[in-house]
Amino acid sequence: MNISSENLMLAVDQLSDSGYFVWDDFVSKENIKKLVLIADQGNQSGDFKKAGIGKQALFQLDKSVRGDYIQWLDRNNQNEIIHQFLDKIELLKNSLNETCYLGLKDFEIHFAIYPENTFYKKHVDRFQQNAHRVISFVLYMNENWQEGHGGELAIYLDDKVEIVQPLAGRLLLFRSELEHEVLMSYRNRYSITGWMLDRDMSLTFLP
Ligand code: OGA
Ligand code: NI
Repeated sequence: MNISSENLMLAVDQLSDSGYFVWDDFVSKENIKKLVLIADQGNQSGDFKKAGIGKQALFQLDKSVRGDYIQWLDRNNQNEIIHQFLDKIELLKNSLNETCYLGLKDFEIHFAIYPENTFYKKHVDRFQQNAHRVISFVLYMNENWQEGHGGELAIYLDDKVEIVQPLAGRLLLFRSELEHEVLMSYRNRYSITGWMLDRDMSLTFLP
């Protein structure tokens, strides 16, 4: 497996200049199809849970803030395509470290499904309880997405709002402290969302 060095250079530049980068065809359409099937199977067998906000004692469920269902993914997962994706993100993380000195140590990812007419209000991914998130990334898995289906991601930059369409195979990377929002999705919306961390996952329970 390899990573396009041209895109990697663009990602490094844009993450530091604008705070985000859109990487099209990060995952092939063929593998996106397989990932959607895996997500649907997981969803049908009850592996997805309503996503909450906050962590541990401060965890709460609030549909007026976010409406998605998630399934955490890690190396215990038996699926080969999931492993391939984890490998590719690992490679990306290491490459970013070599060029950006971000001190990325680990990452965490989950599947997310937003049912019709759900959204995730404006928020940041890095805050007191999630202080170790440095780079957020989202792999979109919506085949045949069209204008009007909704579910775009709005990123709030200093001088403008950037709208990113959730197109199948596209990986969006952005700095976790940037405000962003998932706009109302009028169809089921599929993604894998994750965060690169400046600390090992096994230690994130520490302050
Ligand atoms: C999140 C999030 C963005 C997206 O899960 O924190 O902002 O486009 N997701 O799914
Ligand atoms: Ni977010």
